[in-house]
Amino acid sequence: AQQPDPAITELPDWSRYNGEGVDARPYGSPSEFESHVVRRNVEWLTADTVSSVNFTPLHELDGIITPNGLCFERHHSGIAEIDPGQHRLMINGLVETPLVFTMEDLMRFPRENRVYFLECAANSGMEWRGAQLNGCQYTHGMIHNVQYTGVPLRYILQEAGLKSSAAWILPEGADAAAMTRSIPLEKALDDCMVAFKMNGEALRPEQGYPVRLVVPGWEGNMWVKWLRRIEVGDKPWHHREETSKYTDLFPSGKARRFTWEMDAKSVITNPSPQAPIAHGPGRTIITGIAWSGRGTIPRVDVTLDGGKNWHQARMSGPSFNKSMHRFYYEFDWDGSPLLLQSRAHDSTGYVQPTKEALREIRGENSIYHNNGIQTWYVNEKGVVENVEVS
Ligand code: MTE
Ligand code: CO
Repeated sequence: AQQPDPAITELPDWSRYNGEGVDARPYGSPSEFESHVVRRNVEWLTADTVSSVNFTPLHELDGIITPNGLCFERHHSGIAEIDPGQHRLMINGLVETPLVFTMEDLMRFPRENRVYFLECAANSGMEWRGAQLNGCQYTHGMIHNVQYTGVPLRYILQEAGLKSSAAWILPEGADAAAMTRSIPLEKALDDCMVAFKMNGEALRPEQGYPVRLVVPGWEGNMWVKWLRRIEVGDKPWHHREETSKYTDLFPSGKARRFTWEMDAKSVITNPSPQAPIAHGPGRTIITGIAWSGRGTIPRVDVTLDGGKNWHQARMSGPSFNKSMHRFYYEFDWDGSPLLLQSRAHDSTGYVQPTKEALREIRGENSIYHNNGIQTWYVNEKGVVENVEVS
């Protein structure tokens, strides 16, 4: 280089003076230069921020783990700030012995560590009728993926003793919404957990501190936060969140009764509208995430031309059941416009459908369970826009 680079030739303060000492940040937070990396909401989506949602900044993350402070939040009555010493978990209904547990009681069951994604059924819901929101944070950011530490729910139910007629459970939250969902006992005894840690630290208040239900692979609404009671019954309760909400209205006017499992889905996180290609033509990296409520993601395909030619992406990182997966596709960009898409294949052989294919069956009344292929248009300047191709 002819011109001296001041980033090399001039000494910045951080190289001249000592920095803060070890105890300046007893519970650390990110660099001030990362202050743009935040959850964001879409103001017009909801009437207020108390019964609302914000979105994980997927375009700023890599790997498969979502940092706790960036996990999207969905509250029906705001964040319950619970004193764990005052918190109780009650098991009642069709059990031999109704029981009440303190947090200390829960900690004395054998615990397990599992990485799972949580996706709200409404994720991508705004995109059913066409491309709408400009950013994968908004189109796909109602998802997070963390390692939970908790107690398998079956240990707790077995302690209370299930009556022979027991067939369903109704978990209930301690927030003002007292949110409830009916869950079949088979699932409860299979892989549900009562979790109190995420990524090694206590659950954040936003995520249900001190204890939440984990319902692997199933829609986020069932993962009751601030869990205070589990009633055991012999049939589903058909409460609000499983009738007027979280049901899929078909073109015929009939609604699908329960849609629990989250189908395989993927999205390219970079480039994307909030993360344009700034470097011009040449070596370019495409990356994104994929997940399935039915297993793992052995394969993701990427297209640069709206689906005419597909290329197999490179998977990197741990491949856990019902967890997020990371893919990369490296290529030499010639600077011509691109129509980027990704397509997930899950371990059952299911392939992520196009939005068109979904609409043929589901119509356009739907809000929930949109797992269609996302398209990003990249122009010759590297600017990215949310579009649809047909
Ligand atoms: N549990 C309670 N008690 N109250 C709530 O409002 N929201 C549900 C679910 N559990 C909710 C709840 C919904 S719709 C979703 S998508 C997830 O929590 C969101 O979990 P998160 O806030 O950890 O992202
Ligand atoms: Co939800």
